Amino acid sequence: MARPTRNRAPRKKTSTDTLIFRALIISSVILSNVIIAMESISGFEFQSSEIQSLQSDTFGNPAVLWVDQGSTLFTDEPNSCKSCHESNLSKAAANYPKYSNDQKKVLNLEQRINACRVSYQKKLPLEYESKELLSLTAYLVEIGRGQPLQIRLDEDSVKTFKAGEHYYFERRGQLNIACNQCHDDNVGRKLRGDTLSQGQPVGYPAYRLEWQNLGSLHRRFRSCNIGVRAEPFEYGSPEYVALEFYLAWRAKGLIIEGPGVRR
Ligand code: HEC
Ligand code: HEC
Repeated sequence: MARPTRNRAPRKKTSTDTLIFRALIISSVILSNVIIAMESISGFEFQSSEIQSLQSDTFGNPAVLWVDQGSTLFTDEPNSCKSCHESNLSKAAANYPKYSNDQKKVLNLEQRINACRVSYQKKLPLEYESKELLSLTAYLVEIGRGQPLQIRLDEDSVKTFKAGEHYYFERRGQLNIACNQCHDDNVGRKLRGDTLSQGQPVGYPAYRLEWQNLGSLHRRFRSCNIGVRAEPFEYGSPEYVALEFYLAWRAKGLIIEGPGVRR
């Protein structure tokens, strides 16, 4: 039986000894009833029913304000996004982060939007976490809702993938805890009033009640870094883009459900 828990990249061939050892681990994992951690589950499932209904309500979801503004920005400006993207971009949210042949690196959706602004609209890039960039991102995520995440892992993007995977399993901060120790090993446990989810990215950008605002996935990463008293990285940093790429790959099978609502 394959072991989908960690969704790690295929490794080099392993010896029979290691395989037997792994089989033992797998059976003990099954016996100890940690099966729940084996399939991908969206963070939505770990929210209270009040928050779930807020997210599911087309008009009650506070993110609708950003989606509306995003739709206007997409359509109304001179030399608008829409003037080039008439056939809509409903697949984009599910395909990002993605390697750009143009820029010779993996870009997330925010960076792709800014690349278009700079290259094709001859405008300055929007600041990360600005109302405008969150709105355009929220709009693209909204029109991509319901699509399964489909990340392309190939020769060009594998280095970024490896960096993200490494980051995910690396202990950090004064508390010396890695992402996986919370989001794989302790899923379902309570932590400071939250129920630990698998740390899936499919609800972002999300309106967080704690923020009283819409926030990007990178803002969430920063909260998690600060939670273990680690120095957070910059929004849009190569480290966070790599982490996002790895998480998007790890989320295989989940559908885009953003913009979400979270505690
Ligand atoms: C000390 C435990 C802890 C660590 C370590 C941690 N997080 Fe989190 N994380 C949380 C808590 C608590 C939440 C909010 C509840 C939830 O969804 O798990 C959260 C939420 C998230 C979410 C949002 C999930 C959703 O659906 O809203 C993502 C994505 C995430 N974390 C990614 C990461 C990544 C990547 C790392 C490593 C850099 C990390 N986390 C490290 C505790 C942690
Ligand atoms: C003058 C034409 C033009 C304008 C204006 C433009 N784009 Fe683009 N856009 C492109 C081209 C060409 C590509 C493919 C380019 C590439 O891969 O480098 C692209 C790619 C994209 C993609 C990635 C699609 C995918 O599936 O990979 C997104 C998302 C996107 N644009 C969003 C926007 C947004 C949002 C705006 C407005 C802020 C915008 N674009 C404005 C021409 C344009």
